[in-house]
Amino acid sequence: MNARENFERDLEFSGADFERIRKLIYSSAGIALNDSKQQMAYSRLSRRVRATGAGSFHEYLNRLEASRDSSEWQEFINSLTTNLTYFFREQHHFPVLDAFVRQHMKENSKPPRVWCSAASTGEEPYSIAMTVAEAGAPHAKIVATDIDTNVLAQADRGVYKLETVQSVDNKLLRKYFLKGSGDNAGLVRIRPELRQMLVFRQTNLLEDSWAIRSNDPFDVIFCRNVMIYFDKPTQKNILQKFAQVLKPGGLLFAGHSENFSDSGAPFRLQGKTVYERIS
Ligand SMILES: C[S@@+](CC[C@H](N)C(=O)[O-])C[C@H]1O[C@@H](n2cnc3c(N)ncnc32)[C@H](O)[C@@H]1O
Repeated sequence: MNARENFERDLEFSGADFERIRKLIYSSAGIALNDSKQQMAYSRLSRRVRATGAGSFHEYLNRLEASRDSSEWQEFINSLTTNLTYFFREQHHFPVLDAFVRQHMKENSKPPRVWCSAASTGEEPYSIAMTVAEAGAPHAKIVATDIDTNVLAQADRGVYKLETVQSVDNKLLRKYFLKGSGDNAGLVRIRPELRQMLVFRQTNLLEDSWAIRSNDPFDVIFCRNVMIYFDKPTQKNILQKFAQVLKPGGLLFAGHSENFSDSGAPFRLQGKTVYERIS
């Protein structure tokens, strides 16, 4: 008996059910689930099978496939995303961002445009915002997007447990967070001055045309620890689209295990997992 068979399942879950889930999440979010994710898919989606009263995975998936525009699609996607993140993750990126923003402010009258494209529960975009503000651009707007509406709602709230801000420097903590008391003891809230730098929007990186596009391209894009869930063709396609919305000389920040050097897109490795858009 292998480890997977050791799990108790009260709902029937066949290999065919997993195959259908795999196809549906790949086509809707680009997420490629390998065989080792069967138990994860079961435990996360069994809640949805119960909540919708579908009674079985087979019936739940039938209903999902039958109605492409049902709100259950969002629940299905939210259930299968992995949202691990924390403040100042991959610390080495932040001095690079700081130097870029300082240089930008010397050469431009407008603050840089920044896009955080897999923002999860907000720790990453708020870390970016603190860095950008400290580098002299407190009026910059940071567009923070994710496919998952639950994590975006948490990010929008800007409330975190005290233990999650341990990686934040004390000076920044005092300047940008409010400490809760009474019923809110043990919590911190992002101060309004920092919160107003952020604009949260739902965006699926897989879409052909991103709603956040404007005539004004970005100076910086963060796309960290999400491409690992996509296969190579999907990654290449997204990188080509990033190249269209990032200014030449702009920076693309990638996650620690993501390498875009052989993507064919116009990016040059500029530092540890930082790419520059070349013209
Ligand atoms: C592991 S988290 C990484 C969060 C953050 N970037 C970091 O590095 O700490 C991956 C995030 O990517 C999001 N995601 C997955 N597929 C996506 C897609 N197709 N479009 C946009 N976001 C997606 C997930 O919802 C999740 O919040």
